[in-house]
Amino acid sequence: MAAYDIVIRNGQVADGTGRKLFAADVALKGDRITAVEAPGSLRGDNEIDATGKVVAPGFIDVHTHDDTALIDNPTMAMKASQGVTTVVCGNCGVSAAPYTRPDVGHWMSLIVKKKENLSKDFADFAGKVNAAKPAINGAFLIGHGTLRINTMGDDLNRVATPAETRQMRDLLDQSLSQGAIGMSSGLFYAVSSHASTDEVAEVAQPLGRWGGVYTAHMRDEGDHILKAMDETFEIGRRAGAEIIVSHHKCSGRTNFGRMKETLPKFTEAMKQQQIAFDVYPYVAGSTILRSDMLDRADKVLITWSDKVAGMSGRDLTDIAREMGCSMREAADRIQPAGAIYFMMDEKDVQAAMSHPGAMIGSDGIPFDAHPHPRLWGTFPRVLGHYSRDLKLFPIEDAVRRMTSYSARRFHLARRGEVRPGYYADICVFDPATVIDTATFEKPIAPAKGIDTVICNGAIAWRDGKEGGGRAGRPLNMQEMQKEAKA
Ligand code: ZN
Ligand code: CU
Repeated sequence: MAAYDIVIRNGQVADGTGRKLFAADVALKGDRITAVEAPGSLRGDNEIDATGKVVAPGFIDVHTHDDTALIDNPTMAMKASQGVTTVVCGNCGVSAAPYTRPDVGHWMSLIVKKKENLSKDFADFAGKVNAAKPAINGAFLIGHGTLRINTMGDDLNRVATPAETRQMRDLLDQSLSQGAIGMSSGLFYAVSSHASTDEVAEVAQPLGRWGGVYTAHMRDEGDHILKAMDETFEIGRRAGAEIIVSHHKCSGRTNFGRMKETLPKFTEAMKQQQIAFDVYPYVAGSTILRSDMLDRADKVLITWSDKVAGMSGRDLTDIAREMGCSMREAADRIQPAGAIYFMMDEKDVQAAMSHPGAMIGSDGIPFDAHPHPRLWGTFPRVLGHYSRDLKLFPIEDAVRRMTSYSARRFHLARRGEVRPGYYADICVFDPATVIDTATFEKPIAPAKGIDTVICNGAIAWRDGKEGGGRAGRPLNMQEMQKEAKA
């Protein structure tokens, strides 16, 4: 019997820490990395020639809405094809558990297609993910918006009562005890925009006790972003939780260039508190269609409409012209719907991505008919376009912002590095050719240059196709905390 199951030979290792590339063989046994040795020195049952390739830790997509995609779509091609081996789900305030209402509802439909994929408690949901045998791992945040709908019903345009706040806090506490890794909020969205700072800080209290993280789609990413940052930092402080600001951006033409204000503010706050943020590598964002966002976008593309067929992928200006009405009126007529908004400045995006607090997250929305290309393109785009072609940062640093830094900020034990004893999550890619191919016109397309993707020792993606490996699992905070100490 060979000492190893898989040996990746003669590659250049980017170990995830930012350390300079070095030549080595990497051996895997079971679900672990067992040896990193001189090139040509290791042999195994299954040998993968990585000559001319980079051997990196599997990428961690820290900002996703893949909660139930892991169940509905367990091969997770849109992520495995990018080298992603772990997705952090439940961002922006919306999660699939704990939820006891009989209906899915408009807000929840952002992440849920089938009612049976919702769960009354987190343990039950994690069981469903486990049973689906996904190709990659999932770690799960509990959404404050989901807690609100679950607890307050349809009466959301107010602050929660003390009894409701207590109930939400208890649900969060229970979820964390069952292995959820933290809480997300989305105060920008209608379901949560009436929540006060006090409400969120109160609900978030169990985070400090359990060591869970707090992620925030802030109340404002435009004119009032500095105030929204203060609110976010206050909530994290009061809960005793580490903070990750979601998809950091300065939104709208009048706010272009304001990274000059937000980034120094992050730098300052990071001296006092544990704060980081995620970024996706595009100047367009995507969420539900909102008429108050139309003015600040230079262009709006429709991603889906439940009301009118044939809207997906179309420019709202053209739709309005055809309907003979204003953009606002056209938007009203096709609701409920989703959209892509071109509303960021390229220089801002680059400045955010290269800040010491930045890691990469796609914010892809898995069930959109015509999704934002970030769903299939984020990680190869950072590697190929931003690191190799624009030289925004060296390849080792690009990998670090997708792996070890992300694993540390989200406390994902023994992931994010190519190191003996760590989990066998690996991405082998060609540094000369790696690039995203998904575009705004044709968004569903696997990247180029991603050679082999391994999750927990099983091949999830190989040579442009699904690899058949289905060894992903729900990552449980309680178990990871024990592992980190061991
Ligand atoms: Zn968001
Ligand atoms: Cu999001």
